[in-house]
Amino acid sequence: MHASPRPLSFARSGPLSGAVRVPGDKSISHRALMLSALAVGESRIDGLLEGEDVLATAAAMRAMGATVERDADGRWTVFGVGVGGLLQPESALDMGNSGTSTRLLMGLVASHPISATFTGDASLSRRPMNRVIEPLSLMGADVTASPGGRLPLMLRGLCPAVPIAYRLPVASAQVKSAVLLAGLNTPGITRVIEPVPTRDHSERMLKGFGADLTVELENGERHIRIRGEAELKPQRITVPGDPSSAAFPVVAALVVPGSAVTVENVGINPTRAGLYEVLRMMGAEIAFANPREVGGEPVADITACFSTLSGIDVPPELAPSMIDDFPVLFVAAAFAQGRTVMRGLEELRVKESDRIATMAEGLRAIGAQVEELSDGLIIDGTGGDPLPGGATIASRLDHRIAMSMAVAGLNCHQPVQVDDMSPVATSFPGFTSLIEQLQ
Ligand code: S3P
Repeated sequence: MHASPRPLSFARSGPLSGAVRVPGDKSISHRALMLSALAVGESRIDGLLEGEDVLATAAAMRAMGATVERDADGRWTVFGVGVGGLLQPESALDMGNSGTSTRLLMGLVASHPISATFTGDASLSRRPMNRVIEPLSLMGADVTASPGGRLPLMLRGLCPAVPIAYRLPVASAQVKSAVLLAGLNTPGITRVIEPVPTRDHSERMLKGFGADLTVELENGERHIRIRGEAELKPQRITVPGDPSSAAFPVVAALVVPGSAVTVENVGINPTRAGLYEVLRMMGAEIAFANPREVGGEPVADITACFSTLSGIDVPPELAPSMIDDFPVLFVAAAFAQGRTVMRGLEELRVKESDRIATMAEGLRAIGAQVEELSDGLIIDGTGGDPLPGGATIASRLDHRIAMSMAVAGLNCHQPVQVDDMSPVATSFPGFTSLIEQLQ
């Protein structure tokens, strides 16, 4: 997918201003395609993220029998095959860079009488899959993986699969969703116990499609039960803007002097909005206007103005609600007054890159004061002054590293060159032109 690297420089910017929209939410887009493909009949999706990760999911659903089409207005139509109706794909499913596609689709295949081979790019092929192989094997799936539980792997589903009760050993919405999706075609009740809440888009959307799913709080843990052999009813879905994409123009506005930027139509589901809470704790001027509901998800227009940020100890319990947003928070911390301590982030080491190491290296290269810990970073900020910049940063097949370092470049004395911006196409097509539009 990333044929040739696309280097790009980001230079110190004048004030950013204007109102923009960011592409659709990545997590919701994957789920919209998958559940539509399992419904009986025609679903329509507006606002789908047309990034490479989501297109990998669309291609996989087609390969397993669904009809997935885009019309000229950018609306997507999916004719589903019904739960239990997925067909054997004829060739390997190429997941590109997308961990979400891989892990959720493994869940779907696990309870169908089919097998599938999953392949991915160099980044995805380094990421751990045992976290989903373990519960799906308990349900009866048979998995042959590359050493260390990595891609490429072959998964043979079992039908009927065995319902399980599974307590998540890591706070992961992907693992939770893999088990719930496997549970859709499993007789009886499949239960996931979530000691630490993670993004709940799967639960919301499964209910929206008519699945019998309940969520109960028992002894402080979320118990999610899904009744299998469900019939999903086709839906019309509108995907809100992705809060993890909005994070880039928002942090850019906070750190570039004189800026005021509005990002309209952004999802503010509390299981995703931790970054905004933390930025406010740091003194950021951020306002949510027009709160409303879109497609079963809370949405608002977010305005951020240049702010003098102060370093804080980021509460580790907020990490799951902002897990994708730490790279850009590290950038905000690099421009804050004083010290920001961010810990409890071991999961960041197994994202598209090792985001603790990659960001420590990138921020140091542009002159920031960064101490790397096994589970996070301690950053001593400039108090708002520009960083020196003048370095080339390796984005390491990680879209969020590329975009975070691009944002940092907007407040550096010398331009920051990102060695390859092409990974940005996985989640945020149009990122560079959106930044230019604000300049
Ligand atoms: C996602 C869950 C998170 C997140 C990823 C999308 C999802 O991963 O990092 O970008 O859509 O369920 P984990 O479940 O590994 O935390």
